[in-house]
Amino acid sequence: MPRRPIVGGNWKCNPVEVSKLDGLVANINACDTTDCDVYVCPSNLHVGIVYTKFKEGVWCTPQNCNFKGCGAFTGEMAADQMVDMGLKWCLIGHSERRGEFGLPTPPESSALLAAKCEYLYSKGMKCVYAIGEPLSIREKGIEAVLEYCVQQLKPFLPLMDAEKLVIAYEPVWSIGTGVTASPEQAQETHAALRKWIAENKDPATAEAIRIQYGGSATAANAPQLSACPDVDGFLVGGASLKSEFAEIVAAIA
Ligand code: G3H
Repeated sequence: MPRRPIVGGNWKCNPVEVSKLDGLVANINACDTTDCDVYVCPSNLHVGIVYTKFKEGVWCTPQNCNFKGCGAFTGEMAADQMVDMGLKWCLIGHSERRGEFGLPTPPESSALLAAKCEYLYSKGMKCVYAIGEPLSIREKGIEAVLEYCVQQLKPFLPLMDAEKLVIAYEPVWSIGTGVTASPEQAQETHAALRKWIAENKDPATAEAIRIQYGGSATAANAPQLSACPDVDGFLVGGASLKSEFAEIVAAIA
């Protein structure tokens, strides 16, 4: 694979107990990062507790940021603060924040997310940008899926830089459901996204940009998904809270 693989563990709003954090950190630090970039997204409350505890090669990556910096923004986190803590990456656009899984406050549009990405870049940070379609769109077929995802990608065209941006393709119907996209579905979608980037940005960026798959990825299905030429890694939710996370990293590396 020409692209270095990248696997993220998204702990979402877990764990309940602070006392469980050291065990979760140990799971992550057990990963072999020689041939794979690894990042982990602790909950907002826990970032400040664990961010110094990861080994070299593992990036502590907040699950969100604002697009204005520090100031009177209650409940927000600023890239400026992340930079001060030595953090390099931030995840934005997860469907659980876009409103696909309920009603976050406020729902986040792709245009707003592009503003966040631009702000991250302005502070020298990098960005993992999550996209993906709901089941109603998937049921209409690949053309509809591509059209939906392209709408999410369009505001990011000027920001599409393989050194700074990783795309996480996460079909909403596969997140936390145990229904993983088949390798054929993942490959077809990733390849279509890459083709769209080649045609609308440039072929070099399309070839270099990393596209992760997310949605019920496990140690059991990672080997087959990893074999897809356009799957460059995973964004893992539930399984990142378990020791099998290291096996998922090993599968793609
Ligand atoms: O951010 C991770 C994704 O939402 C996937 O979550 O692996 O629990 O399905 P999951």
